[in-house]
Amino acid sequence: MAIHFLLFSFLVLLFNNGASSYISSEDLSNSLAGAPSYNDHPNSEEQNVFNVDDYGAKANGTDDSEAFKEAWEAACNSNSDATVLLIPRNKTYLLRPLIFHGPCEATSVTVKIKGNLKAPSDRSDWSNYWIKFRNVTRLTVKGGGKLDGSGQIWWQHSCKINRTLPCTDAPTALVFYHCRHLKVRNLTSMDSQQMHVVFSHCSNVEAVHLTIRAPEWSPNTDGIHLSSTRNMRISNCFIGTGDDCISIVNGSRNVHVNNIVCGPGHGISIGSLGSNNSRAHVSKVHVEKATLIGTTNGVRIKTWQGGHGHAKNIHFEDISMCNVFNPIIINQNYCDSKIPCYQQDSAVAVREVVYKNIRGTSATDISINFNCSSTVPCKHIELQDISLVSPDTFTSSSSCINVINSTESGSVFPSCNAQRN
Ligand SMILES: *[C@@H]1O[C@H](CO)[C@@H](O)[C@H](O)[C@H]1NC(C)=O
Ligand SMILES: *[C@@H]1O[C@H](CO)[C@@H](O)[C@H](O)[C@H]1NC(C)=O
Ligand SMILES: *[C@@H]1O[C@H](CO)[C@@H](O)[C@H](O)[C@H]1NC(C)=O
Ligand SMILES: *[C@@H]1O[C@H](CO)[C@@H](O)[C@H](O)[C@H]1NC(C)=O
Ligand SMILES: *[C@@H]1O[C@H](CO)[C@@H](O)[C@H](O)[C@H]1NC(C)=O
Ligand SMILES: *[C@@H]1O[C@H](CO)[C@@H](O)[C@H](O)[C@H]1NC(C)=O
Ligand SMILES: *[C@@H]1O[C@H](CO)[C@@H](O)[C@H](O)[C@H]1NC(C)=O
Ligand SMILES: *[C@@H]1O[C@H](CO)[C@@H](O)[C@H](O)[C@H]1NC(C)=O
Ligand SMILES: *[C@@H]1O[C@H](CO)[C@@H](O)[C@H](O)[C@H]1NC(C)=O
Repeated sequence: MAIHFLLFSFLVLLFNNGASSYISSEDLSNSLAGAPSYNDHPNSEEQNVFNVDDYGAKANGTDDSEAFKEAWEAACNSNSDATVLLIPRNKTYLLRPLIFHGPCEATSVTVKIKGNLKAPSDRSDWSNYWIKFRNVTRLTVKGGGKLDGSGQIWWQHSCKINRTLPCTDAPTALVFYHCRHLKVRNLTSMDSQQMHVVFSHCSNVEAVHLTIRAPEWSPNTDGIHLSSTRNMRISNCFIGTGDDCISIVNGSRNVHVNNIVCGPGHGISIGSLGSNNSRAHVSKVHVEKATLIGTTNGVRIKTWQGGHGHAKNIHFEDISMCNVFNPIIINQNYCDSKIPCYQQDSAVAVREVVYKNIRGTSATDISINFNCSSTVPCKHIELQDISLVSPDTFTSSSSCINVINSTESGSVFPSCNAQRN
């Protein structure tokens, strides 16, 4: 963990100097300069600013949920075109599970989280979320503040940490459900109970400049999770957690991910898809300019046996791997279950996947692992300009099973062709 932390800090330094190979200084300064310059001392007398303090929030360690709820109702139901819900800086507000409901009267609502939000560290009386925005159109959530999920108490009770305990779910820290024209930017989320940020049934979404942190051993603390979400851009994020940095599951389409630093964690994943014989569709996912550090996977597609549907039109491009276990992996025999999975004939089809300009070091000998289904093989897999080696042996190998109609171009090491005859 210490090594990962050092590596991460090092990359943060590189990133901040604009010297990292795949995150150019231009990208970074664009993202900084392009940020709207909001008023640091908004005038609360302004009719359209609703300050939680004016609704009785104390930020003194007592539950402020009620004040937040009232301030939201006022901002959301205001007749003004654009309203602001303000959470002042330099203060920490304790919040119980809280839902911000739409639709709103205001044509747009901006939630400026400048201060810190903290979840209580007891597990009684919880929902499956901590903070949830539901059915809000033209919502922006930003402000440079921090959400602290107080996850430790939940992790201790996870069956992945204490194997004698039954498996139960923990809340997601921040959920956006059924939101359209959504912007989430410039926030830090740390130590979530389970996943950090979930977008579900959302469309036209931008998630920019987010920092997401939880310890490497924290169970199921995915950074950003997308489910049934379309037309989304995720960029300029630092994510290091105990699970996937980014995971994209069923019903998601047209997702662009770029300038991501990921680690520790399980990498960037499409899936899992097709559990319990379900049907899943994911398409048009482009991941560009990512740096993965010490993660258990790099770029991964994982599907269960027995599923239906497809994962297709997926591009991974300009990816830098630093001591990554399983840098490039497709597993159509995924099984994350206490009960062993049995052989089934159907599978979620995996096709039209492009890996382009992927370089760096692999912590395992097999740096390219395509473990595809014998009945529904992976199809049209394209490898272009790949260089992955172990830092110890300066070599690595591939395992490509049940892959058809794949192509290689440029310089590809390790090649999949070697064992396909
Ligand atoms: C916080 O403020 C409320 C209202 O002023 C007060 O009742 C409560 O005792 C305060 N709590 C602490 C821990 O200071
Ligand atoms: C917040 O805290 C910083 C550092 O303590 C201080 O410089 C700044 O003036 C404070 N801002 C507000 C709005 O209180
Ligand atoms: C969103 O709001 C509309 C209008 O009130 C309602 O018809 C719809 O059911 C809501 N959807 C969700 C997911 O809450
Ligand atoms: C993030 O928010 C803080 C506080 O409002 C602001 O000072 C800073 O410029 C913002 N950064 C970006 C990249 O938007
Ligand atoms: C695991 O859970 C059991 C049952 O609640 C408990 O007795 C035990 O102390 C826990 N172990 C650890 C290491 O926390
Ligand atoms: C998969 O996503 C689609 C589109 O959102 C949805 O209609 C379907 O119910 C989802 N399937 C499962 C098994 O959740
Ligand atoms: C699959 O279904 C079983 C029984 O209905 C349920 O217990 C389990 O949680 C489901 N697994 C997943 C991954 O959805
Ligand atoms: C494919 O994946 C399954 C499940 O992870 C594993 O049991 C199997 O050994 C893998 N096959 C190869 C050839 O790696
Ligand atoms: C795809 O591969 C199959 C089996 O190897 C072969 O029969 C077929 O001609 C190939 N199709 C294309 C378009 O390359």
